[in-house]
Amino acid sequence: MIKVWDYLREYEKEKNEIHEAIEQVLTSGWLILGQQVKDFESSFAAYCGVSYGVGVNSGTDALFLALKAIGVGSGDEVITVSNTAVPTVSAIVSTGAVPRFVDIDPRTYLMDTDLLEGAINKNTKCILPVHLYGQCVNMGKLTALAEKHGIPVLEDCAQSHGAEYQGKRAGAMSALAAFSFYPTKILGGYGDGGMVVTDDESIYKKLLRLRFYGMEKTYYALEHGYNSRLDELHAAILLKKLDHLNEYINRRRALAAIYDEMLADTPLTLPFRDPDGRHAFYLYVCRHARRDAIIAKLAEHNISVNVSYPWPIHTMEGYRSLGYAAGDFPHTEAAAKEIFSLPMYPGLDTAAQLQVIERLKEILKQL
Ligand SMILES: Cc1ncc(COP(=O)(O)O)c(C=O)c1O
Repeated sequence: MIKVWDYLREYEKEKNEIHEAIEQVLTSGWLILGQQVKDFESSFAAYCGVSYGVGVNSGTDALFLALKAIGVGSGDEVITVSNTAVPTVSAIVSTGAVPRFVDIDPRTYLMDTDLLEGAINKNTKCILPVHLYGQCVNMGKLTALAEKHGIPVLEDCAQSHGAEYQGKRAGAMSALAAFSFYPTKILGGYGDGGMVVTDDESIYKKLLRLRFYGMEKTYYALEHGYNSRLDELHAAILLKKLDHLNEYINRRRALAAIYDEMLADTPLTLPFRDPDGRHAFYLYVCRHARRDAIIAKLAEHNISVNVSYPWPIHTMEGYRSLGYAAGDFPHTEAAAKEIFSLPMYPGLDTAAQLQVIERLKEILKQL
């Protein structure tokens, strides 16, 4: 069986470091919001190229608390895309605000920044670009427009640790940014985790309160807050893994280059490379009109692939109340029917990758 994602080979390689990290926490006498969280927050923020990081318990909470920290709430609108993970949208809805979608660029499957201006109105409180699959949204255009209208930008970086745009890392191109450390992510833990990064000290301080019941001092709430803390254990593990992040990304990019080269002469549409960006290849997303038949055939050969995402959010029952209908975002809806991603993770060995490529080529010839 060749899985679309697997962590076991990586774990085998890093086992000693991970166990050391766990042991260090368990014998420290301090389990919540201690030195490991502080060290991981400052190290990860520095990796991104910003000043502050606040560890929270998931990427979803990172988005939700980031929106709360800039005052997004009832009556506000947040511009984002329908081709994203449900949590991007659920975080907006949880604040009481309304997501306003724009369609995607059919080459990148990311927010089409040419459509942004038409979606901005007096209620727009935030623009939320999603750097999906390891590639960044066209931030040049987006930032210029956000500045012109005085609207803060929150980047959803759950899938783009270490990705770059015009030389800047994801997370360093806006007022604040949300990351997930869910196990499958480019920097993934062995459980849930997330972080908000920012250069703004007052947003940073607000986030420290929001994740800790609204408190600065124990037992005294300065404002309404939540409980959303990154565990010491996960922080200690992630701190070790952060040392390998560039290695992980280089391996992903090397795997992508092999796919690019060996699948170039097939009818698949391969991932577009924005010349202004550096793709971190969280996913290697291909496109073909007979996607479902290809997936079924690959499964017969014990090769699993992934579809991110099969259903645009505006067409889901859970978000019907937003008032959108099928047909509203043609590029998003067309891509959802045709995209799929091939196995991609640092522990994927070349022999397994070549097997995927060989089978896929055979299937494509027989279609
Ligand atoms: C684009 C995107 N945003 C947000 C999230 C939410 O992250 P988490 O699963 O850590 O809550 C995810 C991950 O599932 C994601 O892929």
